[in-house]
Amino acid sequence: MTNPTIEHLLTRRSVSANSLGEPGPSQDEIEQILTAATRVPDHKKLVPWRFLLFQGEARTEFGEVLAEICKREEKDPSQFRLETEANRFMRAPLVIAVISRVVNNPAAPEWEQVLSAGAACQNLLIAATALGYGARWITEWYGYSHGVRAALKLADNERVAGFVYIGTAKEKPEERERPSLADIARAWRR
Ligand SMILES: Cc1cc2nc3c(=O)[nH]c(=O)nc-3n(C[C@H](O)[C@H](O)[C@H](O)COP(=O)(O)O)c2cc1C
Repeated sequence: MTNPTIEHLLTRRSVSANSLGEPGPSQDEIEQILTAATRVPDHKKLVPWRFLLFQGEARTEFGEVLAEICKREEKDPSQFRLETEANRFMRAPLVIAVISRVVNNPAAPEWEQVLSAGAACQNLLIAATALGYGARWITEWYGYSHGVRAALKLADNERVAGFVYIGTAKEKPEERERPSLADIARAWRR
């Protein structure tokens, strides 16, 4: 029998945000998911990430913020677009923004700290799906918007690594093609 962790890693798939619904994880499960995200490699123990949680009404409030910023940053967005923005975070019961925060440390350059934030995103996905939820790591436009940066009150050394949407999968995602190991992995030879 395959080891359950390997089985999980070999079968995990992201779920489309539109296919995520209620229920979301309980408070206890959220704590487990976040704790799993803190157990990532972190050179020099700099904790180069933090998490912002959006649940319940905070999702509609943030939707209002997104629609306002969209109006400011885009030329003539349609009513449909503004409604889409207003409902963005309603697609899942829980959205976790992973904020990468880089500090100056010559022993652990920026690249390593950013990689650690990516690992935190991946651990969120793995933990959420291990608990039976569907999840997806998304950046879309608001992961890169100056207005959203300001609304999230990010410091100059901070950046959005991703928004991890978590909920119950309404449908099972189909398998997608993966790269062949023969193309991407080989023994080093001089
Ligand atoms: C940094 C990052 C940003 C991403 N942003 C988006 C996004 O904005 N929208 C989206 O549909 N998928 C996005 N993806 C891809 C999905 O998270 C997912 O990896 C992809 O759909 C493949 O599914 P899989 O995880 O089952 O392989 C992003 C992935 C990464 C690593």
